[in-house]
Amino acid sequence: LPRPTPKQAAEPIVGSYALAFDIDGVLMRSGDPIPVAPEALRMLNGDNEYNVRVPYIFVTNGGGKTEEQRCKEFSEKMETPVSPNQFIQGHTPMRELRKKYGTVLVVGGIGEACRQVAEQYGFADVVTPGDILKWNPNVCPFRTLTDEEHKNSRYRDFSQVKIEAILVFADSRDWAADQQIILDLLLSKDGVMGTVSETYEEGPPLYFAHNDFVWATNYDQSRYGMGALQVSISALYKAHTNKELFVTKYGKPNYETFKYANNLLAEWREKIFGHKSDPTTVYFVGDTPESDIQFANKFDDSWHSILVKTGVYQEGTVPKHKPKVIVDNVLEAVKYVLEREH
Ligand code: G3P
Ligand code: MG
Repeated sequence: LPRPTPKQAAEPIVGSYALAFDIDGVLMRSGDPIPVAPEALRMLNGDNEYNVRVPYIFVTNGGGKTEEQRCKEFSEKMETPVSPNQFIQGHTPMRELRKKYGTVLVVGGIGEACRQVAEQYGFADVVTPGDILKWNPNVCPFRTLTDEEHKNSRYRDFSQVKIEAILVFADSRDWAADQQIILDLLLSKDGVMGTVSETYEEGPPLYFAHNDFVWATNYDQSRYGMGALQVSISALYKAHTNKELFVTKYGKPNYETFKYANNLLAEWREKIFGHKSDPTTVYFVGDTPESDIQFANKFDDSWHSILVKTGVYQEGTVPKHKPKVIVDNVLEAVKYVLEREH
């Protein structure tokens, strides 16, 4: 008698919906994975009772490394491969600014990392606060470059250089020195160090990769982020000039990043899952009402905001932007989506 053929497991179906995740406070905290995060992604990869695979992307305001570096480390932490093609950092959409500016000052991050990011984006001429301090240490009397910073910084005569834009890519490691240099340039004539504009309207434009006032770390209370630095710089500028400072902000909850996220998701769904039509719903899982929930609620009704309790949002408080639902953590968020869809 012929042997019965073993039952083949049916091929998983692919969800017509999609997810997008915030990272800090949702999947990670101070560089460590949130314990349930790998399981949440495993479920979306097909390990679920509905036999469905669901496309997803990551939209973090964080930054300071190239997308490739960041995805390599993040894949290990999440125990699943994450591609730069499904990943946006705060500064990712700022790569377009390379077409607009020649010499730019890039601020933030550790060591030379942000210079490398900007150069990888194709910016023609990238300078850092370290380069300026190597040229003239008196710019910031209380800041001394370490030997390594001194070695890596690039000397040039900044009294002859026009800095065309200031790009804050990642969290400043030294607010005092970075603020001093940013203010020097904002108040300068045409972005030349050592000059002072009479109108205070000739300095280079200032861009921030995001505007998060606080973010979630391993300390119990949220910590000041890049948005707080921006508030501080704007206050100094106002005190000095009596004028309002104009700052262009990327990252969540800003539209430029929303547009970028939709394009990235469309390309990812088409490339990996063969989907050409728009997702029926995009579930966005975040921890910060002002950033994530506002972002998901603001631009398109097909986005559905989910707030978790593992980051900035604290249970018992009223979120400034109301999510569609509040759940304990990212695993509960994924379960909520799968139950709602199937
Ligand atoms: O500095 C990064 C932090 O402000 C937020 O990161 O992943 O929560 O958008 P994320
Ligand atoms: Mg977050």
